[in-house]
Amino acid sequence: MTRPLQDRYGRVATDLRVSLTDRCNLRCNYCMPAEGLDWLPDDSVLSDDEVVRLIGIGVSHLGVREVRFTGGEPLVRRGLVGIVERTRALGPDLELSITTNALGLARTADKLAAAGLDRVNVSLDSVRAETFHAITRRDRLPDVVAGLEAAQAAGLGPVKVNAVLLRGTNDDQAGELLAWCLERGYELRFIEQMPLDAQHGWSRTGMITAEEIFERLSRDFELSPAVEPRGSAPAELFRVDGGPGTVGVIASVTRPFCGDCDRVRLTADGQVRNCLFAREESDLRAALRGGATDEEIADRWVVAMLGKRAGHGIDDPTFLQPDRPMSAIGG
Ligand code: 5AD
Ligand code: SF4
Repeated sequence: MTRPLQDRYGRVATDLRVSLTDRCNLRCNYCMPAEGLDWLPDDSVLSDDEVVRLIGIGVSHLGVREVRFTGGEPLVRRGLVGIVERTRALGPDLELSITTNALGLARTADKLAAAGLDRVNVSLDSVRAETFHAITRRDRLPDVVAGLEAAQAAGLGPVKVNAVLLRGTNDDQAGELLAWCLERGYELRFIEQMPLDAQHGWSRTGMITAEEIFERLSRDFELSPAVEPRGSAPAELFRVDGGPGTVGVIASVTRPFCGDCDRVRLTADGQVRNCLFAREESDLRAALRGGATDEEIADRWVVAMLGKRAGHGIDDPTFLQPDRPMSAIGG
């Protein structure tokens, strides 16, 4: 029996984002401090069996059709390939992807593809070694480049690249990054920086807006809407110089798409979050370890969706940044 993961506003979540670890081998300065964070203790993190069981409940009881593995950095999770394989076994039609910084992807892309992964989204904010280091605090650009190539060669495409622009750091490189991705057949998407950093350093004025990104790219490229704009909302996917290449500009802050949200998140320690910015979580791990049946866990999950807010409210005077940073929620 399936019941939809429906909230009070009628939105139905079918896209499950599963964080497999809060750890990461980079230290992007808009995400975490140089010394890293207090990682979740091992025994609070779901085991491979527990993760697969929860995904299975999502798929067979709750209408989940798409699973995206995230982190922290999901490639640092030892059991990743096995988890992907077992998730694939839950549904041949499931769409399976991973959001990764691509460190080590050169070694695992083939295995992930063989396990049944469909696609990868790679985070890359600069293709200049100095800027890459300035942002991530690590000299690992060549690993990312190799990871991207391996993913494409393994058939994990279309390979998408996610970039965040930071004022004074890489905001002069939007065009360069786009040209680099177009040359290699990667689909680049710029994402507005959201207030999700562990250091609480985000500011509205520091953030590079989608409008600014569009303006900057328009100096070097001719952008035309690649999809019919919806209502008054400007298109977010653009054809570049007549196509076939495209670029996405995701205005998560300035033009939120919360009304169309179809996502639900599961943290590495087994908490359901109905939104990136949720203030409450629902503890599926406790239910799981307390001996709950699949039905009971599904019930709890359904209830967790009812508290989903209409929008993230970043512009609200009452906005509160969530307690968990992005790395402990999953992108
Ligand atoms: N705002 C927007 N995107 C972010 N990411 C990490 N932190 C933020 C933030 N505060 C991105 C990473 C990666 C994905 C997981 O989320 O760059 O692409
Ligand atoms: Fe790691 Fe992603 Fe955070 Fe960078 S943004 S430190 S790659 S989790």
